[in-house]
Amino acid sequence: MNISEILIREPYMVEEIAYLLQAEDNEKAMLFEKAAQVKKAFVQNKVYFRGLIEFSNRCRKNCLYCGIRRDNVHVRRYSLTDEEILDAARFACENRYGSVVLQSGERGGDGYTKRIEHLLKKIGQLSNGGLRVTLSCGEQSYETYRRWLEAGASRYLLRIETSNPELYKKLHPNDRHHRFEMRRKSLDDLKRAGYQVGTGVMIGLPFQTYEDLANDLLFMKQFDIDMVGMGPYLEHPHTPLYAFRERLLSREDRFQLALKMIAVLRLMMKDINIAAATALQAIDPMGREKALKVGANVIMPNITPGKYRNDYTLYENKPCTDENADDCQSCLEARIAFVRHEIAYDEWGDSEHFKEREKGQGGE
Ligand code: 5AD
Ligand code: SF4
Ligand code: FES
Repeated sequence: MNISEILIREPYMVEEIAYLLQAEDNEKAMLFEKAAQVKKAFVQNKVYFRGLIEFSNRCRKNCLYCGIRRDNVHVRRYSLTDEEILDAARFACENRYGSVVLQSGERGGDGYTKRIEHLLKKIGQLSNGGLRVTLSCGEQSYETYRRWLEAGASRYLLRIETSNPELYKKLHPNDRHHRFEMRRKSLDDLKRAGYQVGTGVMIGLPFQTYEDLANDLLFMKQFDIDMVGMGPYLEHPHTPLYAFRERLLSREDRFQLALKMIAVLRLMMKDINIAAATALQAIDPMGREKALKVGANVIMPNITPGKYRNDYTLYENKPCTDENADDCQSCLEARIAFVRHEIAYDEWGDSEHFKEREKGQGGE
């Protein structure tokens, strides 16, 4: 295979994607260059901010890779008060972020559903409808998704984690709370409910092959996803998957692989929103900025109150845990200017892809 031939041949076959993901040196530079061109042509060098509020680390699930899994007794569990959440949303509004993301461990029950509903309405009021709200609260019923949408949410992030059902099984306990089919169905439900839907995967997992990753990208394309957030897998000592750390690629190789995944996805889905995942920065201090250069166009500045940040540790080395929202804001402004990108303040930044999808369905 020859990289220049592959690069002009989109849509790609699974073997071609796997080849691109293994590109090194000159070939890797060609891939990155082409992705940067496509990005510039379709989504410009704009960066959308999504203020990330990690409002609780309580989780009913037990994913084998995750630092805040239910059985990890080393975690100090917390939940922000309504006031703290609304203050964070107010910060995003005052600082002209187009949107916020409410993220937490997965929980269920009527009380939880109602609380989110209430918060969504309050955020709508305090921002005068000026903030788009994304939820990242795990698998819920179709009815719950609808209720939250009606209360004001418009986007939902639910990573498929891997599109390979066999690999999914190796990464999760074997019980009814962790079924690949259910997760897949949740993504369908979210789309049917009317959300802009985001998904993503972890990159460099134990047992994961290049072909798996190539299929992950094809899954996103087939599902016609609007937004993607994907980053390197980072082993966490208080999780079962840590036992397989010897099988992993080096951290630097996982990082490079994540950049290649972003670049190839930008070539395959030119008008979607792609987030520069925070996990990239856990490996390389300039990780997110490097991702912007090769295709990403969204950054999620952490606006969780500083005192809780150390406890939302999905993985180790998480950046910005000693900072507060103001620190991250000024830090990011400098970093983004450094890679000659422009922050799109006061814009919602809905994905162009979603707008096209809506038109196709006779929407606005
Ligand atoms: N390394 C990298 N990403 C992780 N996530 C959870 N645990 C880890 C880890 N150890 C990701 C999952 C989840 C998202 C919120 O964080 O993809 O969907
Ligand atoms: Fe809970 Fe999400 Fe972590 Fe799984 S990845 S244990 S659902 S917070
Ligand atoms: Fe948080 Fe730099 S982005 S300190």
